[in-house]
Amino acid sequence: MNISILKNAILVFAMASYCSIAFAEGSVPKEIAAYREMISDGNPAEFDEMRGEELWKKPGGPNKVSMEKCDLGKGTGVVKGAYAELPRYFPDTQRVQDLESRLITCMTTLQGTLESDITAKPFGGDNYKPEIESLVAYVVGQSKGVKMNVSLKHPKEKEAYEIGKRVFTYRAGPYDFACSTCHSQDNLRIRMQNLQNFSNAKDAQDSYTTWPAYRVSQGLFRSFQWRLNDCLRQQRFPEPKYASEVTIALTMYMAKNANDGVYAGPGLKR
Ligand code: HEC
Repeated sequence: MNISILKNAILVFAMASYCSIAFAEGSVPKEIAAYREMISDGNPAEFDEMRGEELWKKPGGPNKVSMEKCDLGKGTGVVKGAYAELPRYFPDTQRVQDLESRLITCMTTLQGTLESDITAKPFGGDNYKPEIESLVAYVVGQSKGVKMNVSLKHPKEKEAYEIGKRVFTYRAGPYDFACSTCHSQDNLRIRMQNLQNFSNAKDAQDSYTTWPAYRVSQGLFRSFQWRLNDCLRQQRFPEPKYASEVTIALTMYMAKNANDGVYAGPGLKR
């Protein structure tokens, strides 16, 4: 190879990498612009809410029964304000349940759907929207404007909260991270993303009351179970079982700490 070809190759390579850096930097304002445009047009999560409402009301599952007889804790069929009081203890299942695990209870007992069919692929992706995620969107939307009011009266509720609190500060894994490593200080950041400080009541409220949310960067509606999954992945922990006890306990810890905040979801996130 003669020297001038080599020089050109280096130049082309340098320009290509310069362009890709410029593109990476350019994509941030582009994303923010897209985000702003979406806010002005309303939240795309509204489509998920509408789909969820339809799924809630129409006969479904092998039993061809709607979800309208599902008890989310405020009585049979009451959806309004139910999310603002979850997780809670349910006497029929004798355990504390978050929204997702309670929906699984109704989908299995009322509609006859197999739990394994619901939990096999509970998160949406390209061209795939699980029913449970749309049901989540509908139910949370019905608590918009309602103050978070999670109770610890039942001993099992108190226990779930205490477990959640311990898990939140439990350090393990290859980096020895806990949730609190990333989420217990003010003004921490990873790249462009603010890290919410959940030991601060305002952050805890702002954050919990804006999840579940539509994620602009993914173009998808995401449930709180997804949020926990993604943070446990960032923590390099094993993937938790969907709607398992540990995820419900963590949700209980965060929901209770958000009490008195006004629920404002589904939110719109980066
Ligand atoms: C390695 C750092 C890291 C760890 C550890 C971590 N997170 Fe996160 N978490 C993040 C980042 C980064 C974001 C923001 C992501 C974004 O903006 O897209 C986030 C966002 C969140 C949010 C949403 C905040 C909001 O207002 O949108 C919640 C809730 C959350 N984390 C909970 C947890 C819990 C619970 C744990 C422990 C199981 C945990 N995180 C562990 C980095 C971490």
